[in-house]
Amino acid sequence: MNWTPAALSQDIPSGSAAPGQLGDKDIVIWRSASGRIAAWSDRCPHRGMRLSHGFVRGEFLSCIYHGWRYGDGGQCHRIPAHPELTPPDAIKVPVFAVTESDGVVWVAQKDAEPEAPPPGLAGFSPLRTLRLSARPETVAAAFGGTGLDLRGELGGCAVVVLIQPLPDDQCNLHALAANGADTATLDRVSAALEALRRQAETAEEIAA
Ligand code: FES
Repeated sequence: MNWTPAALSQDIPSGSAAPGQLGDKDIVIWRSASGRIAAWSDRCPHRGMRLSHGFVRGEFLSCIYHGWRYGDGGQCHRIPAHPELTPPDAIKVPVFAVTESDGVVWVAQKDAEPEAPPPGLAGFSPLRTLRLSARPETVAAAFGGTGLDLRGELGGCAVVVLIQPLPDDQCNLHALAANGADTATLDRVSAALEALRRQAETAEEIAA
């Protein structure tokens, strides 16, 4: 099992939460006020509300429905309707392994955390994430590569395109561009990524 790229760090600023996925599992990726990143199941243990709809206060993520507050390790710390109660240890959100490197948030199953670190991306800076209705192999073929870690050139700029497989023949592309690229170049890369998306989705439609 390898690390899966799940988001770009720039899209999860401190004090925010966003929905994500690891395979067919819905996750919430959130960052505390101090900058600590976490990836948890996107389901509140109380009544199942999506925690990605919740809000971050300090080092805690609170559910938007009844305000149950969760902290380190997914542990519930506070139940507003019973402020005198110390929540039992069993009230806990399942957590995923998470690490950040070179501006990418990587996740893995907690019980299958890869021993090797994520691939190195030195020399590149995060650009944007796109969602596609196409299989990873179709995207790789449209790019002119293979696998989930595509390296080459788009819009006249060196790029890394990380493919995150998703259910139902979908995927996310997390794109990074060479450090120091100017705004005009980044605009061209962005346009080339959208062209890549159209090309892959068209190929998928023709194959269907
Ligand atoms: S559903 Fe989350 S606190 Fe009730």
